[in-house]
Amino acid sequence: MSDWIDFYDFKHSVIYVNARHRDVHYRTIAEDIVELISSPAAHVLDYGCGEATSAHLVAAASGQLVLVEAAPNVRASLTVRYAGDPKIAVITPEQTAALPKASFDLIVMHSVAQYIGTTELDRLFDIFRTLLKPDGVFILGDVVPPHFAAPSAALALFRFGAANGFFWAAASGLVRIFTSDYLRLKKTEGLSHYTEAAMLEKLRRTGFTPERAPHNIGHNQRRMTFFARPPSSGQSMDARSICGRP
Ligand SMILES: C[S@@+](CC[C@H](N)C(=O)[O-])C[C@H]1O[C@@H](n2cnc3c(N)ncnc32)[C@H](O)[C@@H]1O
Repeated sequence: MSDWIDFYDFKHSVIYVNARHRDVHYRTIAEDIVELISSPAAHVLDYGCGEATSAHLVAAASGQLVLVEAAPNVRASLTVRYAGDPKIAVITPEQTAALPKASFDLIVMHSVAQYIGTTELDRLFDIFRTLLKPDGVFILGDVVPPHFAAPSAALALFRFGAANGFFWAAASGLVRIFTSDYLRLKKTEGLSHYTEAAMLEKLRRTGFTPERAPHNIGHNQRRMTFFARPPSSGQSMDARSICGRP
């Protein structure tokens, strides 16, 4: 296993403690993304979508959904899963850069930034800015702050498990994650962490007008979500109306 894409390139990633965890995880994210869709005609792109087992919910609330996944086996499984949904397309990261400019109302990248180096992340932000319509929005979710990332992720997983019927599976699943290649990759490939100020500055430098959302997409509220608009839009997102879980 040579990098983070390989780590995720399983039909069912070790990061999910069981099928229930995976499905509740993706349903929670899909429901949060649906809250952010401004119109039933919206064109939505989900970059680094993972197994996306609830993407049909996002597609049902939008006009078109493009799922981008780098891991080839995960992408193949998405292609089979959504073959019957005419609103969903599954593509590679390389194909993303070739999509028509100014064609998306909403671009989401959730829980991916930690696996990407800072220069590569700037390159992606540039691509997303050109793909967004002038009044579109880029949602960057699950940005991991420095310090206590692992214990807070474990605690959030236990809480999520307790609330959704997989508490004990979360305990054994955590052991499985930490005996997988996760720790070795963390050392060799690294994980990118950002303070709120650092990510706001990074988004600004790549031409966005960013703000931090009051709640993170998904279950881990120690991590951060940002809304970033192309500067020409002149709109401010009503951050309180979205990601509305307490
Ligand atoms: C934790 S999963 C996130 C999946 C989904 N967005 C979610 O929130 O559950 C991380 C995703 O990042 C992708 N990924 C990791 N490194 C990447 C890279 N260098 N370029 C593009 N995607 C990458 C993996 O393939 C995987 O789908």
